[in-house]
Amino acid sequence: MSDTDCAPRLASADPSGVPFAALDPELLRTQRTSIKWSRFGEDVLPLFVAEMDFAVAPEIRRAMIERVEASDLGYIDGPGGLAAAFSDFARDRWSWHVPHDRVHLATDVATAVVEALRVGRPNGGRLALSTPTYPGFFEMLEEVPFDVVEIPLALSEAAPEVRLDLAAIQRVFASAEGVDAFVLCNPHNPHGLVHAPEDLSELARLAAAHDVFVVSDEIHAPLTFSGVEFTPFAPIAAEAGALSVSALSASKGWNLAGAKCAVLVAADARADELLRRLPPETVTRVSILGLHANIAAFENARAWLDRAIAQVEANVELLAELVARHLPGVRLQRPQAGYLVWLDFRAAGLGDDPYSRILHDARVALNDGAAFGSGGSGHVRINVACAPQTIREAVARIASILPESLPAPHPIPAPHPTTAPVPDPEASR
Ligand SMILES: Cc1ncc(COP(=O)(O)O)c(C=O)c1O
Repeated sequence: MSDTDCAPRLASADPSGVPFAALDPELLRTQRTSIKWSRFGEDVLPLFVAEMDFAVAPEIRRAMIERVEASDLGYIDGPGGLAAAFSDFARDRWSWHVPHDRVHLATDVATAVVEALRVGRPNGGRLALSTPTYPGFFEMLEEVPFDVVEIPLALSEAAPEVRLDLAAIQRVFASAEGVDAFVLCNPHNPHGLVHAPEDLSELARLAAAHDVFVVSDEIHAPLTFSGVEFTPFAPIAAEAGALSVSALSASKGWNLAGAKCAVLVAADARADELLRRLPPETVTRVSILGLHANIAAFENARAWLDRAIAQVEANVELLAELVARHLPGVRLQRPQAGYLVWLDFRAAGLGDDPYSRILHDARVALNDGAAFGSGGSGHVRINVACAPQTIREAVARIASILPESLPAPHPIPAPHPTTAPVPDPEASR
């Protein structure tokens, strides 16, 4: 069987109907100015930061253009239509019933986490995180007076091979020094782990018993794969009597990080009382364009989201296939949500800093696992929200630097020609 025979069947256009040829990194580099396209030189394939190559959903572009055309670029005075748009989305997708007045604004999810910690635990203290995890948490936590305690994830029998180490969490929560706050990453970046409801219930029980404030970062939740059930933490926390708030946005699911708008949702009346203490400036620091982009995403761009998830799922399958064939020694953890894939390079023969070897010798920019906290070194994170051909190119480049003593890489084939979704004429503008 050839590589082409067993490659997953892929569409030829992105979720907005833009042909994948138009998502060629060389072309995108001439069109986009974000960090993904400006951080490295033009010979480097950028698959690091969590930005999608897919074109923004037409519904969102229209909403933003309408605001610009109306010269409606002032300050905002609260979540407005976003409370209902988010609440409807949470009810329809996750059966989570969010009262509109429990939805508060923040500039982005990073700011939401920091602001929540400031009002929830104004004196700081000790904050626990399950690692390896999103490096941004370590950067955010420099803004608040906490000592960070890393609790490594536990290995699990089932995909994606890791889960919360609840026994270790219990030991840390119950220790003499205790813990004041826990930042939950739900789903967990970088593994794309969707936590099991029973693990979340146990975490909530422990948090209630030891008075630990839980901030649940649920930014990747809209990108939960088909057939996987995402469990929001807030209802579980409320039932257990744990103090908790959740931070969400359309920024990852619909690729709107630069639009700057997120929501903080109080799990119950006690958490809501905390969020009402957020400084009024928290609201004026949110972008009016971001607010309308989020409303359009949650209300009108759900079909786009489903196409994006399907494409990401296909890209993960493609990557898994290519890694198995061309990157001997590399282990891939299959995500259940999000477009970030965690790769273990410890047995691939690239030494203890595979990130630097891949960047300097293969000219592919990934995220360095060492930045994800304990358990991360020897790993890299790759972003697969791109055209399938970009994944093929990345794997071919990485395969070319693997040690010669390992089996020679096979040639990597071109993508399948398959039926394309009907292109949206606006999408390629
Ligand atoms: C888990 C997690 N939280 C927060 C962020 C940052 O989100 P924002 O740009 O809304 O601050 C990211 C970005 O990738 C992330 O993966």
